[in-house]
Amino acid sequence: MILIMVIKTKKKYKTYMKSMNTLIQKYNRPAPRYTSYPPVPFWNERPCETTWIGHLKDSYSEMRGVDLYVHIPFCESLCYYCGCNRTITKNHGVEEKYLGMILKEWNLYKEKLGFTPKINSLHFGGGTPTFLSAETLDRLINQLLENKSEFFIGSIEIDPRRVNKEQLAVCKKYGITRISLGIQDFNPDVQKSINRLQSPELVEDLVETIRAEKFESLNFDLIYGLPKQTLDSIHKTFQIVSDLRPDLIAFYSYAHLPDKIKNQKFIKETELPTPEEKRALYNEGKKILEEIGYVEIGMDHFALPGSFLSLAMKNFKLQRNFMGYVDRKSNILLGLGPTSIADSSLSFMQNEKDLKKYEERLNKNELPHSNGHTHSREDLIIQNILQQLMCQQQVDFGETNEIPFWMEIEKELLEFQEDGLLVFNVDKMQISPLGKSFIRNIALAFDFHHRTKTTGAKFSQTI
Ligand SMILES: C[S@@+](CC[C@H](N)C(=O)[O-])C[C@H]1O[C@@H](n2cnc3c(N)ncnc32)[C@H](O)[C@@H]1O
Ligand code: SF4
Repeated sequence: MILIMVIKTKKKYKTYMKSMNTLIQKYNRPAPRYTSYPPVPFWNERPCETTWIGHLKDSYSEMRGVDLYVHIPFCESLCYYCGCNRTITKNHGVEEKYLGMILKEWNLYKEKLGFTPKINSLHFGGGTPTFLSAETLDRLINQLLENKSEFFIGSIEIDPRRVNKEQLAVCKKYGITRISLGIQDFNPDVQKSINRLQSPELVEDLVETIRAEKFESLNFDLIYGLPKQTLDSIHKTFQIVSDLRPDLIAFYSYAHLPDKIKNQKFIKETELPTPEEKRALYNEGKKILEEIGYVEIGMDHFALPGSFLSLAMKNFKLQRNFMGYVDRKSNILLGLGPTSIADSSLSFMQNEKDLKKYEERLNKNELPHSNGHTHSREDLIIQNILQQLMCQQQVDFGETNEIPFWMEIEKELLEFQEDGLLVFNVDKMQISPLGKSFIRNIALAFDFHHRTKTTGAKFSQTI
């Protein structure tokens, strides 16, 4: 409340910005993004294949089915900022072989489980899922959706530069009606510096087609903190966004880790905004979005009222998984393709990242896992807290004596409260509007793996 009043007058706005900058200096540090808990570098006790299949059978219910993620790693050109697992190639000869690999993995699952899981949802991510031709996509989806739930929902990540009407028609035919477009930024100078040229006209035409075909929902991925972005360029990008008015917007913080992600060495660090400038870019985007009617849901995500994520937030049904925010999820997420992650509710598994190794494992009739984690009781308690934090911006603690390191956590929460980031009562905690910018720092306080172990893993900065 107090903070909202502070930013209402101009003079006091300067005070707000000063204290914001002090907070950025205090809290800007490397931290996980918490798409999973524990984060991948802290995974231990990988279940063996028999235990993993046992976990899946224990968690499976025919009524809820499974959520399926399929990774298509190919892209025709490299975006310098990209932190995703992808292979750059223009050779579409790889499609047929890859289709065979994904179907082999799916068939291994069916064989080892002894039944064909019901598909509650299917998400295609990448890389570039529309690297596959309409014909390949059709054959792939057709085989995966053999046992499809009557409540089935499908979604796909699309690169606007590499999609055609035939591919969209295949998606529509199988009920893949939630589309996400990789936009990142509309400014030509920014686009040049990240090696991703795509004109507003190209995106406008595509949005028109998507609307004409009556897809259920349209998301734009945008990034702040890219080279050459300024308040003015962000303002112009958001003017175009505002004209096109997608239902959902993911406004990601650019994760710059050039020592780990080699292609990011092409990004000139002198062209990157400072942490304070980067936060100002986010605030500018957020301000425009809120002025034109979007609501902030969870971390870095915005939605129009009436969109499925907005409704989910209103009804306390919003959830987060490895792919981002969703309105419902089953107990099981299966991931097909290199690097994909699966969750049985009792454990996590991740596939080989390297395409060759992934293929070799499949050829031996093995599920191609290279990493995994078995959840402890404490992991499940923290998972629940982080879900509430990321989806509702408030946490009902329940029994605090069950939370590992509660004494230390409580001290840190009190400091967050003193800095105006949250309001903390005995058993409930609410994130303030200011605190939303530091949500990863707050999540970090609960992370007992991070507190007790060092892994040498590199995480992006919280701001
Ligand atoms: C895996 S990509 C798939 C989308 C599709 N290949 C495209 O680029 O149009 C999903 C999203 O991840 C985001 N992304 C990729 N690298 C990132 C990074 N280093 N920091 C923040 N976001 C990133 C981008 O917004 C991108 O649209
Ligand atoms: S951002 Fe998308 S298109 Fe660009 S390299 Fe990454 S996965 Fe490929």
